[in-house]
Amino acid sequence: MPYNLTAAVERQEDLGAGYHLLTLAAPEIAREIRAGQFVMIGLTDIDQMLIRRPFSVALVSPGPDGGEPASIGLLYKVIGRGTTLFSRLQPGDRLALLGPLGRGFWLPDPALEAGGGDETELLLVAGGIGNAIFPLLLQELGPRAARTTLFFGGRGRADLTLLDWFEAHAGRVVTATEDGSHGQRGFVTAPLAAHLDADPGRRRLVMACGPHAMLRAVAELCLARGVPCQVAMEETMACGFGVCLGCVVEKREPESDFDRFVRVCTEGPVFDAREIVL
Ligand SMILES: Cc1cc2nc3c(=O)[nH]c(=O)nc-3n(C[C@H](O)[C@H](O)[C@H](O)COP(=O)(O)OP(=O)(O)OC[C@H]3O[C@@H](n4cnc5c(N)ncnc54)[C@H](O)[C@@H]3O)c2cc1C
Ligand code: FES
Repeated sequence: MPYNLTAAVERQEDLGAGYHLLTLAAPEIAREIRAGQFVMIGLTDIDQMLIRRPFSVALVSPGPDGGEPASIGLLYKVIGRGTTLFSRLQPGDRLALLGPLGRGFWLPDPALEAGGGDETELLLVAGGIGNAIFPLLLQELGPRAARTTLFFGGRGRADLTLLDWFEAHAGRVVTATEDGSHGQRGFVTAPLAAHLDADPGRRRLVMACGPHAMLRAVAELCLARGVPCQVAMEETMACGFGVCLGCVVEKREPESDFDRFVRVCTEGPVFDAREIVL
C-alpha cells in the first residue's frame, strides 16, 4: 500500500540548466521503494496545486546515523508551473507525497543464472532527464552495477546530469549528444545498436527511460534483434493510482476490445517493450 504523507524538504540542489535534485525526509517510502517505481508530489496548499506531479525516485539515502534508508532524492527538470514551484522549495518546507507507486524494473532471477557462467549483460539507456530512474537501479544492483553499461544521450553536455556520479557507479558510460558537445554526435541509439550488433549472441537485458521517440527507437532495435527490453513510460498523470484513466497506453496484442489499454501508473510505468504500442 502506498503511503500518503507530508514530507519535509531536506535539500534542494540546483544542478544548472534547469535540473534540480530535491531530497525529502520520507523513511517509510525510502525503505520500500524499488527502482522504476515513482511518487506523486504536490504542494500542501491544494489551492496552489490541485494535481500532484509524478517523479521517479532517483536515490535513497540513510539517516544521519548511517543506518536505515530515511530520505529520497528526486532528480527533476523544470518544465512548467509545477516544477517551477518545486524548484523554489527550501529546506524545512513541506510537500504532499504519495508512494511508492507502480511497477518498477524486474531483473533476471539470479538463481536461474547461477552456474550458467554467462551472466545477462545489463544495458541501461537514458535520454535526458530519463536518467533520473537509474541511480536507484544502480544502488540496488550493488556490486553488479560495476558490470552495467549506461548509454546516456541528451541534446548537449548540460543535459547529461549527474554524469560524474554515473561514471563512478556504472561499469561504463557511453554518451551521445545531438550537438556533439560530449561523446558521439547524434542519438544514443546509434552506439546502442553498434554494441548490440558487435556481439549478437550475448544474453542481454535493455532497460530504457527517456523521451517517447527514444523509447520507440530503442524498443524497435531490441525487438528486431530478439533482445529483451523494458521501457519506463512517462505519461501525463493525474491520480497516480489507477482511478482517472488519464495515463493509458495501447496494448500491442489485446485479447478483446475491452482489453485494449493499460494504465501506466499501475500496470507500469515499466513495461516489457513487447506489451505496449510505443
Ligand atoms: C512515472 C513518471 C516518472 C517521472 N519521473 C520524472 C523524473 O524523475 N524527473 C522529471 O524531471 N520528470 C519526471 N516525470 C515527468 C514529470 O512528471 C513532469 O515533467 C512534470 O509533471 C511536469 O510538471 P509541470 O507542472 O512543471 O509541467 P506542466 O505545466 O504540467 O507541463 C509543461 C509541459 O510539459 C508537458 N509534460 C508534462 N508532463 C509531461 C510528461 N510526463 N512527459 C512529457 N511531457 C510532459 C506538458 O504537456 C506541457 O506541454 C515523470 C513522469 C512520470 C509519469
Ligand atoms: S494516473 Fe490516474 S489512472 Fe493512471
